Amino acid sequence: MGLVLRLLEVRGVSKRFGGLVALHGVDLHVNYGEIVGLVGPNGAGKTTLLNVISGIYRPDGGRVYLHGREITGLPPEAVCRLGVGRTFQSSQLFPNMTVLENVVVGAVFGSGRGGFPLGDWRCGDVLEFALDALEFVGLADKAESPARELNAVEARRLEVARALATRPRLLLLDEATAGLTPKECLDAMRLIERVRERGISVLMVEHVMKIIMGVSDRIVVLHHGRKIADGPPKLVAEDERVINAYLGERFIL
Ligand SMILES: Nc1ncnc2c1ncn2[C@@H]1O[C@H](COP(=O)(O)OP(=O)(O)OP(=O)(O)O)[C@@H](O)[C@H]1O
Ligand SMILES: [Mg+2]
Repeated sequence: MGLVLRLLEVRGVSKRFGGLVALHGVDLHVNYGEIVGLVGPNGAGKTTLLNVISGIYRPDGGRVYLHGREITGLPPEAVCRLGVGRTFQSSQLFPNMTVLENVVVGAVFGSGRGGFPLGDWRCGDVLEFALDALEFVGLADKAESPARELNAVEARRLEVARALATRPRLLLLDEATAGLTPKECLDAMRLIERVRERGISVLMVEHVMKIIMGVSDRIVVLHHGRKIADGPPKLVAEDERVINAYLGERFIL
């Protein structure tokens, strides 16, 4: 398949922290409209890979392409403006700002916007983007509440809303369901499916196998910084190496 048919293409990416090799020549791609699950044991390199894609870390080797354009080494704000939105493994909200203001930050600095001064945010389509994202995740009625007053589920949804307000083509989710109950996880799954219906591709790190298996078109498995499997959920779940490295110890239903 040609490069331009792929929204995201990661080629041979390596990342070291001192003597520790966190990523070792990882290849990964996300096609247009695809939901890809990224799994693996703790310390496998999943968050590091999202950080390389989103520009937080510059890789020591390899290249990253978005929509056929090389984005390796671009700063996070540039990668965001080119259409990559993300959430964080541990919440990175602005607790003293309102729910709406948190999302406005995404809308101001996101795709297609120049990042104009925050003081002007009630102008143009920024407010429209922000309100739309809040509505989408079901938080519109909390718009004026301080973010610190949200419960864990709402805070997770707000992170997704802020990322969506940047108008991404690709959404990176890092354990968006951490700490949620099974029922809340199902709601999160439906939300991710609705994100895809908007034409946004998703690369998601997730430990809850029921979610990963249920929602992903394809699953990529990392182990000690190397990719050990890449394929349809059913095949990956039956893969001997994956069972030994990950599923055996981590299968959660
Ligand atoms: N900034 C950093 N400095 C030094 N080491 C790091 C840094 N970030 C990650 N690491 C190390 O790189 C390895 C991969 O970490 P990473 O956070 O990517 O794993 P992960 O797959 O996301 O794990 P988890 O499931 O626990 O979130 C780990 O050994 C971790 O300690
Ligand atoms: Mg992680």
